[in-house]
Order: sequence, then C-alpha cells, then structure tokens
Amino acid sequence: MTVPEIFKNTRLPVVAAPMFLVSDDRMTIASCTSGIVGTFPALNQLTTEGFEQWVINIKEALAAFQQEHPDKPCGPYGVNLIVHRSNPRVQADLEICVKHQVPLIITSLGAVKDVVEAVHSYGGVVFHDITNRRHAEKAMEAGVDGVILVSGGAGGHAGTLNPFALLSEIKSFFDGTILLAGSLSTGRDVAAARAMGADLAYMGTRFIAAKENNAPEAYKEMICEACAQDIVYTPSVSGVPANFMRQSLIQNGFDIEKLMDPASVDFGKKLTVDGEAQAWKNIWSAGHGVSAIDDVPTISELVDRLEEEYREAIRELAEEVTS
Ligand SMILES: Cc1cc2nc3c(=O)[nH]c(=O)nc-3n(C[C@H](O)[C@H](O)[C@H](O)COP(=O)(O)O)c2cc1C
Repeated sequence: MTVPEIFKNTRLPVVAAPMFLVSDDRMTIASCTSGIVGTFPALNQLTTEGFEQWVINIKEALAAFQQEHPDKPCGPYGVNLIVHRSNPRVQADLEICVKHQVPLIITSLGAVKDVVEAVHSYGGVVFHDITNRRHAEKAMEAGVDGVILVSGGAGGHAGTLNPFALLSEIKSFFDGTILLAGSLSTGRDVAAARAMGADLAYMGTRFIAAKENNAPEAYKEMICEACAQDIVYTPSVSGVPANFMRQSLIQNGFDIEKLMDPASVDFGKKLTVDGEAQAWKNIWSAGHGVSAIDDVPTISELVDRLEEEYREAIRELAEEVTS
C-alpha cells in the first residue's frame, strides 16, 4: 500500500471527495473527526478571504478535537484547487494553502510543477484528478504524489473508462498513491477498490446524502430515490460532459430525449449569464452509485457503517482463502 505519512491516523482508506457547492468547512471537519480524509474546493467560498476563514475554522476544530480525544483517529484535510487559466484565484488560494500548510492539495485540470513544488516545500501532499493515461503521465512528470482515477459512472465531470481497465493501465507505470473514484457508495465498495489495487477510495455522491454539507434537502432526497439509470452523462449543462440526475434535468426544462441524441447536444446553450455556478446550483450532479444510497445519515454514522461493511467484506474474503 502506497500511502503518504499524513494518512497514518485514519480509520478507513476513504477520502470524502471535494464537491462544487456541496462541500464546506462543516463537512470537512465532520469527515476528519470521523477518521477519514475531508476535503473541499477552495472555490466553494466566493473570495480568497472566505476560503482562508474555512481553513482556519478547520485547523482550529481539528486541533481541539485531537486535544480532547488524543486516542481517536482524525484524518487530514485537503483543499481542491482548479488549476486552469480561467480560475483567476489559483495563485492567491495556493498562497493561503502554503501559509497554513494545508496537508493535502487536490489539483484538477492542470498538473503544474510549480504548484507541486510549492506544496512539497512545506511537506504537503499533492493528488491529481485524471481520467486517462495521458493525464496521468503529465501528472507524473509534474511530480504529484498520487493520482485520482475518475472512472465512468462518477459524479461530476466523470471519465468514461471502466475502473478495472483504468486502474490496471495506470498501475502499470505509476508507483505513487492510487485513488479510485466512481460509484463507490458502501464499505464493500471500498474493500473492492482495495482488492483491485487502489490505495484509497474516493467517494463523492455518497457524501452528498449526508447531514453536514451545503446541499439542499431536495437534492439529498433525489439521490435517495434515484437509480443508476437516472444518471445522464451530458455536456449540455456546462459545455463539459458531466453526470446529472434525470429528474433534476427535467425540472430545469431539459428535453431528455434530445440530450441522449448526440446530434442535438447544445453545448452550454442552457447557460445564463450566471454561468457554471448557477447551472450546478439548479441542476444536480450525482454518479451511478446513487443506486446504493437510500438515507441521509450524519457523517459519523456513515463512517461507522462504512467501516462495518468494509471489515465484513474483508472478513468474508479472508475466510474463503483460509478455509
Ligand atoms: C456535485 C458534485 C460536484 C463536484 N465538484 C467537484 C469539484 O469542484 N472539484 C473536483 O475535483 N471534483 C468534483 N467532483 C468530483 C468528485 O470530487 C469525485 O471525483 C466524484 O464525486 C467521485 O464519484 P462518485 O460521486 O461516484 O463517488 C464533484 C462531484 C459531484 C457529484
């Protein structure tokens, strides 16, 4: 298992993934104090000052938790930076990460050497989102510590490759930490990801249907009611292919028949001046893993359950091998 030192105080090999408009400081704190890794996108705060305030809230809450419960596991926290020229805040937000020595940085879109060096300068760890071999090779050249394999069926800007195929391909040349993302909703799924050779499971959609986050109640209910067939992979909402719930697309006036017809895809035509944030606020994204989600627990309850299912799955397999 190739996992950096900062993960030694976790209870399960699970990262609660960063999600636009959903993950906040509360969710990150609840995840870390439950013993897994908590993360959020810097852009979920409107300004760099607001972002820094969340970092301070998280650092203070985790330090207090560790002081009160020195024997309990407490995961590290991470920040997602969108490294792209269309994000004018990237440099200012990176400076805040360096100032506060944020333990884990998750980069999306660009894997840039300068960012990796800045994070390594204080001993931080960098993981980078990838959907194919080319992205992983570029990330490796930039010196990242790990890659997040965003496979087909993931929430958000999912990849299209089957997780088994993607994992074998990347493992054949990358020897850093490997995280698997896409439709992981139960502890059994986490055990399966480990059995496949991933070091950590990266879970998004499952954590939307949890108490402590910024998602509206109706979004959580829709996830509980949806099944895998309700997930529509389309570029029509924001110009880049992503997975959205059919029910939410219909509520916002999309014609599902047309969306499924590649010839009539309207790249971003639905967008108003409010742009990307407005689109994601109204049209709710989720991965195929919705099938296994039917409740909205607290994060602590969810992590307890994940651990129980994870241990049960491993116990069953171990018994098979030893019997
Ligand atoms: C609503 C939503 C918003 C997301 N926003 C981001 C984001 O801002 N940055 C990012 O790197 N990934 C984002 N993702 C992707 C997740 O970090 C993660 O890769 C994905 O949710 C894993 O698949 P799963 O949802 O099937 O568990 C988002 C996913 C969802 C569902």
